[in-house]
Amino acid sequence: QPFNEVMVKIQEGKELTKEEIVLLLKSDSQSEKEALYQAADKMREEIIGDTVEIRGAIEFSNYCKKECNYCGIRKGCTTPSRYRMTEDEIMESVYQLHQWGIKTVILQSGEDDYYTTDMLIQIITRIKRETKMGVTLSIGEKSYDEYQFLREAGTNNFLLKIETTNRQIFEFIHPDDNYDTRIQCSEWLRELGYANGSGNMIGLPGQTEEDIAEDILFFKKMRIHMIGIGPFIPAKGTPFETYETGSIEMTLKAVAVTRLVCKNVYIPATTALASIDPDGQTKALKCGANTIMLISTPEKYRKNYQIYSHKNMIDLASAFKSIAEANRSIPKYLKVTPQEVV
Ligand code: 5AD
Repeated sequence: QPFNEVMVKIQEGKELTKEEIVLLLKSDSQSEKEALYQAADKMREEIIGDTVEIRGAIEFSNYCKKECNYCGIRKGCTTPSRYRMTEDEIMESVYQLHQWGIKTVILQSGEDDYYTTDMLIQIITRIKRETKMGVTLSIGEKSYDEYQFLREAGTNNFLLKIETTNRQIFEFIHPDDNYDTRIQCSEWLRELGYANGSGNMIGLPGQTEEDIAEDILFFKKMRIHMIGIGPFIPAKGTPFETYETGSIEMTLKAVAVTRLVCKNVYIPATTALASIDPDGQTKALKCGANTIMLISTPEKYRKNYQIYSHKNMIDLASAFKSIAEANRSIPKYLKVTPQEVV
């Protein structure tokens, strides 16, 4: 009965040990998995409510100076044609999101030094002044000072994933990153008052349930506010192109356990999950996830932001569909209704 004992501990509001988290991640029978998903769904409902938060992501540059072995826009990858959006192009996309009533825009890119801190500050300042939207940055590792300037310019959130807390795997997949630097950056972001995003990939080479349990405990210890959990998906033209795709089931179990352990956090139903399973977002929303990121990059650039192959294009119509299928509500602040977009 060990599984049931852990479920009782959750009901009693007790903290779980690493071993207990591993046990949940290893649950294999249909009935156990369902019990796990239901418990996470219930906790999401009690703590967050029934509304799915919708955010828009603009992938404004696919240039990158790093060589992460899994990533389809790594420096050495010749597949994508490289693009950079101008400030005005970025603003056009921001206005579109603003018109829909969306409250947060995520600016994401490769690690591209073409955009100086001053240029980024200029863009952030315009977004804040012209739309008052929340701004999330997802642009990788920076110095403390840069993070500070970007924060002072009004940036609200920063996404910087650890990807895995297993040091060996981290080094194996990131030939030019340092594990301690990544953690340092994440600590700086919290110190500077950002809502701090992290996350991991499921199904990395050599990754075990124990590693995923450590990831989840890390998110809790680091007081991470937003946790993106997605399956690893091989990207064409990368050293990992022939590796196996991460498991949907394990991703869903990780989402559920993360909700149960970290409780009051934002968990997106990730694009990666939607890319390998048409019902992936609906499933994630039913086991603890509570946000969806729309891909709001202009049509002509989107296809070149293939961080992994067959990346799904999440638009408003598909977000509304996932939300309806998960029996959840769209945010009241949206100025578009499902009828209008379909
Ligand atoms: N498979 C799955 N997720 C990936 N990411 C990047 N490359 C891949 C891949 N091949 C994820 C990472 C990164 C986010 C922007 O996309 O988690 O942080």
